[in-house]
Amino acid sequence: MAVNTDKGLILIIDDEESIRDGCKQALEKSGHVVLTAENGKEGIRIARESKPEIAFVDLKMPSMSGMEIIDFLSRDIPDIVSIVITGYASIVSAVESMKKGAYDYLPKPFTPDQLRAVVKRAFEHRNLKMETRMLRDEKEQMEKNFITFVSHEMRSPLLVIEQYLEALRAVAGRCLDKDANDIIERCNKRIQGLKALVEHWLDISHIESGIFEPEKNPVDIPGIITRSVEEIAPLYHIRELTIETDVSDDIPEVTGDGESLMRVLTNIMGNAAKYTPSGGKVSIRAGHDEYYVSISISDTGMGIPKEKLPFIFEPFYSVKREGEEQKGSGLGLNFCRKIMEAHGGKIEVSSQVGKGTTFVLKFPK
Ligand SMILES: Nc1ncnc2c1ncn2[C@@H]1O[C@H](COP(=O)(O)OP(=O)(O)OP(=O)(O)O)[C@@H](O)[C@H]1O
Ligand SMILES: [Mg+2]
Repeated sequence: MAVNTDKGLILIIDDEESIRDGCKQALEKSGHVVLTAENGKEGIRIARESKPEIAFVDLKMPSMSGMEIIDFLSRDIPDIVSIVITGYASIVSAVESMKKGAYDYLPKPFTPDQLRAVVKRAFEHRNLKMETRMLRDEKEQMEKNFITFVSHEMRSPLLVIEQYLEALRAVAGRCLDKDANDIIERCNKRIQGLKALVEHWLDISHIESGIFEPEKNPVDIPGIITRSVEEIAPLYHIRELTIETDVSDDIPEVTGDGESLMRVLTNIMGNAAKYTPSGGKVSIRAGHDEYYVSISISDTGMGIPKEKLPFIFEPFYSVKREGEEQKGSGLGLNFCRKIMEAHGGKIEVSSQVGKGTTFVLKFPK
């Protein structure tokens, strides 16, 4: 990156004229442009106007302390590198000011060479800082572009194909033989899978990139459980599973995003359905103790081996089971964990192979 390392604008804020003049002379000799101010107020005005790259600030000045100036500069001019000028006696406050955002300190008295060495380090530091910020901005932009790409270039055509298939079935379904209809059905299933993957991926990316901010509304936990059970009931019916709920009636409201939390519930209930053989049972319980409001979802399914449990919340992870084709994208639980974290809560799992799995969602009270 082409950032000027030798020259650049430096501001000296010091009430001692000899220090201001000395620094100015020494630094101008090395090709820097130097501005000076004899107090904090003037220094801040100049800093605002000229946006210097580096500022030297005397810690002890009559009207405004160096500490306050540093604090102001770091907040108002993010890329500025501040250095405190201090007497030997105030090393402690120099350390304090570094905690406030100063990069380095220069104890008095100092030689022009010492001053130039500090300036050189400060410019190197500034360049690294700016380069890091630039790379981070670029990464964020690329992520945002990719999100837009997936959303428009993948999601939209998928929806169109889905609609065309639907139309094909409506227009020609009855004229086509069973094999042709089966092919349409297989295409449809694949499209549903792809659609779910794209939607999950987009949700997770929106959370990660900060585009999605969960709402902060009062959420009625028994209400979202009832709605989720209603939503998932047809799937349970097809898979011949029974669903049982036991929700205590004194559950306090949780603050959060009801729609997202419903999707967490339907994801976990969906998993319970996917990974439980027909005839099985899924139990949903909700209650609260001193610290948490909890919802548990237990199934009597195939379970998850202990050594695989730590990985199931990772993106794209799915437990490989013999003779079983992969049933999903492996993004569902990652989404659930991210949403729970965005609510300050957590998600826990316990499982026994062949017996079943329990997921517990915990919201702090
Ligand atoms: N209730 C469960 N019983 C047994 N295994 C489970 C259960 N829930 C999740 N798993 C295992 O954890 C893995 C990760 O689950 P996750 O929901 O993230 O992905 P998925 O169901 O494969 O795909 P997706 O939800 O993205 O469609 C699954 O592949 C599955 O093997
Ligand atoms: Mg899943």
